[in-house]
Amino acid sequence: MLSRIRQVMSALTARIGAEERQWINQYLTVNEQQLFWGMSVADQRHALNVAYSALRLAESNAVSVTLLLRCALLHDVGKVSGDISTIDKIIAVLVSSFVPEWAQSWGKPGKGSRYQNLRHAFYVHFYHPQRSAQLLTDAGTEARIIDIVQKHHKTPAGDDPPELIILRKADAAN
Ligand SMILES: [Fe+2]
Ligand SMILES: [Fe+2]
Repeated sequence: MLSRIRQVMSALTARIGAEERQWINQYLTVNEQQLFWGMSVADQRHALNVAYSALRLAESNAVSVTLLLRCALLHDVGKVSGDISTIDKIIAVLVSSFVPEWAQSWGKPGKGSRYQNLRHAFYVHFYHPQRSAQLLTDAGTEARIIDIVQKHHKTPAGDDPPELIILRKADAAN
């Protein structure tokens, strides 16, 4: 619970500097850059912090660092800026941490009324990996990355590539 509150607080004060912006762009195609910068600043900051954590975790593992960083930077692009409000996002994150199964079944895509927007926020919270994968497919991203992004909240499986295992750890730490 405390870590969730800390996560919300840091999301509200997130910033990305000019040097970091350059560092991010060098790993992404023009289409992917559009998706990355199309997230809210809070989600951009989260993805960047996941990339930094992944880089540290990669040191002791045999992985493709470029592939790993691209997965980290792109894993949440399905959370498009302006799609859900900050308060709905906070409610979705907190409620989902208490009653995940109920929250997942209550989520429903489609915006409109205040009530529909909140249900949409719950939907995005649980189904953003699929949305990310679809956007990346449209952007022409390679299949290996799309596969990893799509599975980043799925239960670990025996044939998971090492980049996916590290991405999950880095994501959980941020
Ligand atoms: Fe995610
Ligand atoms: Fe994430």
